[in-house]
Amino acid sequence: MKISVFGLGYVGAVSAGCFCKLGHEVIGVDVLEVKRQKIAAGESPVIEPEIDELIATAHKQGQLTATDDVAAAILGSDVSLVCVGTPSRRDGSLNLDYVQRVCEQIGAALKDHKGYHVVTIRSTMLPGAAEDVAIPALERASGGRVGKDFGFCVNPEFLREGSAVKDFFGPPKTVIGTRDTRSGELVAKLYADIDAPLFITEIPVAAAIKYADNMFHAMKVVFGNEVGTFCRSLGIDSHKVMDIVCADTKLNISPVYLKPGFAFGGSCLPKDLRAVLDRARRSAISLPMLSSLLPSNELHVRRFVDEIVGRGKKKVGVLGLAFKAGTDDLRESPIVTVVEALIGKGYDLQIFDRNVALAAMVGANKQYIMDEIPHISSLLRDDINQVIDDSEIVVIANSDPGFRDALLARGHDKIVFDLVRLFSPEQPAGCDYNGICW
Ligand SMILES: NC(=O)c1ccc[n+]([C@@H]2O[C@H](COP(=O)([O-])OP(=O)(O)OC[C@H]3O[C@@H](n4cnc5c(N)ncnc54)[C@H](O)[C@@H]3O)[C@@H](O)[C@H]2O)c1
Repeated sequence: MKISVFGLGYVGAVSAGCFCKLGHEVIGVDVLEVKRQKIAAGESPVIEPEIDELIATAHKQGQLTATDDVAAAILGSDVSLVCVGTPSRRDGSLNLDYVQRVCEQIGAALKDHKGYHVVTIRSTMLPGAAEDVAIPALERASGGRVGKDFGFCVNPEFLREGSAVKDFFGPPKTVIGTRDTRSGELVAKLYADIDAPLFITEIPVAAAIKYADNMFHAMKVVFGNEVGTFCRSLGIDSHKVMDIVCADTKLNISPVYLKPGFAFGGSCLPKDLRAVLDRARRSAISLPMLSSLLPSNELHVRRFVDEIVGRGKKKVGVLGLAFKAGTDDLRESPIVTVVEALIGKGYDLQIFDRNVALAAMVGANKQYIMDEIPHISSLLRDDINQVIDDSEIVVIANSDPGFRDALLARGHDKIVFDLVRLFSPEQPAGCDYNGICW
């Protein structure tokens, strides 16, 4: 395929060299003469392991050229990859001036393109930037419509400087965001020889994935360092600890605990966090990220109460009171906090939780229920259908498998807050279906 690459920095130069290696023809475009001269001399404009050789070979074989003639590059290619910088402004906001400018230039050139050219943004842009900046600039300048006169994709780059070529040929995934399958399929063809999971999705989802990835990486570094700081203060080798923590691919390095839903709770996580933070305080150690976890968690609880209050309905049915399905443990269940807040505000509440109801009669938690939350135990009902029928708002607070059928049968005219995303992708027909973190 014929590809034009706009911006010959780290991402552009590596993409150019690597796509040539995959057999494509590449025209590099950069506003800086020095970068174009480098390519014209068969040299890499950036320093990266393995890239010099790829660019030298591509140049020798006539697969790679460089120009500042945008029209020539667009008319001579099927796909353009936008790899210009998106730096931070002083206030932290994203500077999209280069993206806007290059899209205007590409748009102007598209007027004369006879075929279906796909503009693909590889630069990192916040969700919404494609729709607010890139697409309008392309449509304004070309006079055409995206999806009709030209294609458009967002294709975030996951390479790491220092191992960029290796990462290009062995990426963790290929993500293509698009509105039209034709564009998505064309860009996917570029990666036909790359062995990696391919995800073709909506444009904002693709954009958000890049940020979720980088926030996750940043969080992991900080987490590792805070655990390390804590261990060091206790004379423990943090690498021994983290080696074994990382060897756990069931609960630790896994999708578990990563799906947005609701606040954590239960008898361990809040208690253990408090113990670590207290110990750190006594050793005069500051652990800002770990210290932020409980306040962040509490914020979800408050936000949820505000969401319910904002609906202006007073009859609320809560399905699930324990912090997760299959247990009767109510200690530090965040939904208990929600229920207590709503009781305080005079709400008409009914609760269904088969495990808690049983525990209230005979289980080990009977004492806790009687002593700590007698005001809540009086709201427990044993008929889930009645709870749904009597409520204007239904809260699904844990993933008890019985909740699904009952709501599908009776949840139609209800406002439903699903804290565990029990219904995905289908939902009870006609209900007003909501999440808190999704
Ligand atoms: N560097 C990385 O490791 C990395 C990894 C993934 C994603 N990204 C993202 O990719 C994008 C590019 O990053 P980078 O590090 O390669 O940037 P960079 O600053 O190294 O290179 C950008 C290039 O774009 C050129 N340019 C600017 N305006 C242009 C125009 N109108 N026409 C042609 N060229 C133009 C600049 O002269 C420069 O050479 C950024 O959004 C970045 O966040 C970077």
